[in-house]
Amino acid sequence: MDSNLQKILRQSAAALLVVVLTAGLVVADGENAHIAIENPAELSKEEAVAHYRSLNKRMARGYAAAQLDLILNYQSWPLFNDAPYISATHGQRFVNSYANRMAHNYGTLQEGEELPMGSVLAKDSMTVTDEGRLHPGAMFIMEKLAEGASPDTADWRYIMVLPDGSVFGDTLGDRAGEVAYCHVCHEQVADRDYTFYVPEEYRKSE
Ligand code: HEC
Repeated sequence: MDSNLQKILRQSAAALLVVVLTAGLVVADGENAHIAIENPAELSKEEAVAHYRSLNKRMARGYAAAQLDLILNYQSWPLFNDAPYISATHGQRFVNSYANRMAHNYGTLQEGEELPMGSVLAKDSMTVTDEGRLHPGAMFIMEKLAEGASPDTADWRYIMVLPDGSVFGDTLGDRAGEVAYCHVCHEQVADRDYTFYVPEEYRKSE
């Protein structure tokens, strides 16, 4: 074979390999974004609150880059937990559970009742490793849509926003397939309008 041709073939093979490897990394990163970190720290409620206070402004700025009006100023919404708690189902991150004013019955929902259309539930998250390293985590969002807007997900829209404001997936927008698993799990609590609510030991007492 002509040696120039061989060189070109070798180069394109190398280039292809780079593309394949990079794609692999991107996928791995994406998975890390919602798969458990291995060594979450054990924190007291006070420590978890203090960590969150040192990070929450930065977290809000990150999510804001997604330009999703529905989570604008979410940190001023009612908060339903008394301290960030580890959520095994959301990647072993420390999470908070906020709900907008429309979701007035989020905390008192009885079996068979539903949240009103326009309800938005926002769960921000941070990771704290056992070496004490603190990082903003993803934001998990549920929005109650108009009746019939999304029959497959009982009219809930699920969105996951990464700490830098990029949208990992939106069941009503880009990369819907990436967040289809959200509703699959939330279906376990269909009788509570697909919401799990906060673990008992972290519920605000009022
Ligand atoms: C394996 C099960 C599971 C998966 C998958 C899952 N969740 Fe959850 N989700 C839960 C549980 C359990 C809670 C309540 C406890 C907690 O906060 O961890 C919850 C709570 C929430 C809440 C607060 C509202 C509520 O249910 O009380 C939001 C918002 C939320 N999840 C969004 C999402 C989004 C968005 C995804 C997908 C990116 C997702 N969840 C994937 C189990 C899951």
